[in-house]
Amino acid sequence: MTEPDRPADPILSVNAVTRRFGGVIAVNGISFGIAPGTVTGLIGPNGSGKSTLFRLISGEIPADSGDIRLRGASITHKSASVINRLGLSRTFQLSRLYPQMTALENLVAVTRTPEREASDRARDSLAFVGLSPVADEFAANLSYGQQKLLEFARVLVNDPDVILLDEPFAGVNPVMEERLCTHIRALRERGKTFLITDHEIKLIMALCSRLIVLDHGELLADGDPAAIRADPRVIDAYFGT
Ligand SMILES: Nc1ncnc2c1ncn2[C@@H]1O[C@H](COP(=O)(O)OP(=O)(O)OP(=O)(O)O)[C@@H](O)[C@H]1O
Ligand SMILES: [Mg+2]
Repeated sequence: MTEPDRPADPILSVNAVTRRFGGVIAVNGISFGIAPGTVTGLIGPNGSGKSTLFRLISGEIPADSGDIRLRGASITHKSASVINRLGLSRTFQLSRLYPQMTALENLVAVTRTPEREASDRARDSLAFVGLSPVADEFAANLSYGQQKLLEFARVLVNDPDVILLDEPFAGVNPVMEERLCTHIRALRERGKTFLITDHEIKLIMALCSRLIVLDHGELLADGDPAAIRADPRVIDAYFGT
């Protein structure tokens, strides 16, 4: 029997994942699945576990318990580089650009293709985010907004299916915010899947079809932006005062 309305299998699933740092339970039994081709926001107060969850998903640190799957296959015990090769890429809350390399070199440095193709891919990524004119500038000489776009271009260079963005809008001016949103939407149209954490709630609400809310390492709420905005527990924990 066919089930035409059955939702797509999650491309990414997080199942009862827990991670402690000493006495702090940074991520406490979190579970959710992310449908392919969607943009989901991960929000919550400072210290609620968002970046830790990103680090767990991308394989930088191991979970104490629980299971994380990419396209149905467990990646829980895989290294960050293997997970990256499987098609999951992330940006970092703090810049990890090489300041003394040019914009182009920053991208070539992370490509996994042969040299000639790496350069083409790097140029394509730069063009996609509108940074071709500054290809040969040192990263250190780019404006803050341009550096954020360059970091975004850097996650695209190996053509990942799942992209995690940790505070992509932090400190970015409205023009750059709009550009970044346009790029994210364009990539979603091409089937890419995004999980984005940011404190710019208006932007997150406008960009995401679903929000997952963390509080003290626990999953507080999970739903569409309107439902989340109206949820009294979320208002208390996050939108309050
Ligand atoms: N390496 C670490 N060692 C010890 N404690 C840590 C470590 N990383 C995170 N924590 C703690 O885990 C909790 C969750 O931190 P995390 O950085 O994941 O929060 P966050 O939601 O990303 O916050 P923010 O919005 O400020 O970026 C906090 O209590 C934090 O102090
Ligand atoms: Mg964080």
